[in-house]
Amino acid sequence: MSLHPSIAELRRRFPSHFVWGAATSAFQIEGAARADGKGPSIWDEFCRSPGAIADGSNGDVACDHYHRLESDLDLIAELGVNAYRFSISWPRVQPAGSGAVNEAGLAFYNRLVDGLLERNIQPYATLYHWDLPAELQHRGGGWLSRDTAERFADYARIVAERLGDRVVSFATHNEPWVTAVLGHERGIFAPGVKDRRVAYQVSHHVLVSHSLAMAAIRSTRSRAAVGIVLNMSPVYPATDSDLDAAHAKLEDGRLVRWYMDAIFKGRYPADILDHLGAHAPQVRPGDAALIAEPLDFLGVNYYHPTVSSSLISASPASSGASVTDMGWEVAPHGLGELLLRLNRDYRLPPVFITENGAAYQDQVIGDRVEDEARRQYIESHLIAVADAIQRGVDVRGYFVWSLMDNFEWAEGFSKRFGIVHVDYATLRRTLKSSALWYQSLLRPTA
Ligand code: FCB
Repeated sequence: MSLHPSIAELRRRFPSHFVWGAATSAFQIEGAARADGKGPSIWDEFCRSPGAIADGSNGDVACDHYHRLESDLDLIAELGVNAYRFSISWPRVQPAGSGAVNEAGLAFYNRLVDGLLERNIQPYATLYHWDLPAELQHRGGGWLSRDTAERFADYARIVAERLGDRVVSFATHNEPWVTAVLGHERGIFAPGVKDRRVAYQVSHHVLVSHSLAMAAIRSTRSRAAVGIVLNMSPVYPATDSDLDAAHAKLEDGRLVRWYMDAIFKGRYPADILDHLGAHAPQVRPGDAALIAEPLDFLGVNYYHPTVSSSLISASPASSGASVTDMGWEVAPHGLGELLLRLNRDYRLPPVFITENGAAYQDQVIGDRVEDEARRQYIESHLIAVADAIQRGVDVRGYFVWSLMDNFEWAEGFSKRFGIVHVDYATLRRTLKSSALWYQSLLRPTA
């Protein structure tokens, strides 16, 4: 099989019913932070803490997707994708995180879902992509409080009752590791807490909330598949020293096994519980079985491998590797290895690559935007996915991160992940050359 297949060959490596998509999240693109009754989220507040966001920006306007819904729907359709992954902003639906429902907020997602279906694009919704209603943070410490898990299940039920007849898939959470570790251990994401004990209690409550939300969705008439999206990668030791090997095993336990074992084996990994000691979460009887409720699908987000070293100063990438604008190593083989390993170690439901993509500084030349590096990144990762399918991993779909340049969390607008360029002065959208390539992959005859 050739290493550089033609576009038609690449397309033929995927099953005809493969789901081809692009992904975004609410906070990163919608803007309209206070429109139509939306409540503030922890990200609205985090952006206001000095130094939290690299370029001092916030999500008040972002890509103004909320006000440009119709033309953005046309843009998605123009790509030729058959699926679109988006997230629902909890504080748009329930401004205070509990109680009153904001009809105007729900109406927006109703229009989004209907607009996708009118264009023959399947809606893949995520219920939580990090924008917790600020009120829940202030009242009980957000995910540190078990009550937040109950509130999340209420919110999931509300959304499923209203959209579950048309959405094909609900992911409960996007990347619980990020919520727990970046938000509560390293403190570089909202809510900016730096406390390992809190982080692990949060991770447990997030998993509890995931299963309560699944049950809530399944108790409605919704026919949507229900699952979760995890960010994972292989973890390589930086050197062949025993110390680095031990470090890599722990890192793998914290990133992959903590979530996968809990969900697919009904227990947290013993070595990580030992390692955490007094920082281990409080778990109630019955929680383990609850978290292990079967999923309809698993979403996998993959960007780069993790290189683990016992030395704080070691570089996060293998030496000599090419890296993206985030400094993330480009390693498509990492995605293939990850998929094969997950398939070997767990009884997987159907898998979707719910995010994969790269940040680069694109070249704007007149009204064209050139991003050959991103195109190659996507192509090489698709080849890895096709190989994994051939080796027996049941991958059903692939979503590029991201549909368009957007607010990249702590990096603000300085990092561009879109296959569509956004000019932040005018908010004009332009298909980059990677988008034109993706379009021709999806519509080989166009
Ligand atoms: C993932 C997030 C997504 C985006 C990409 C680059 O961790 O889910 O929102 O920021 O990284």
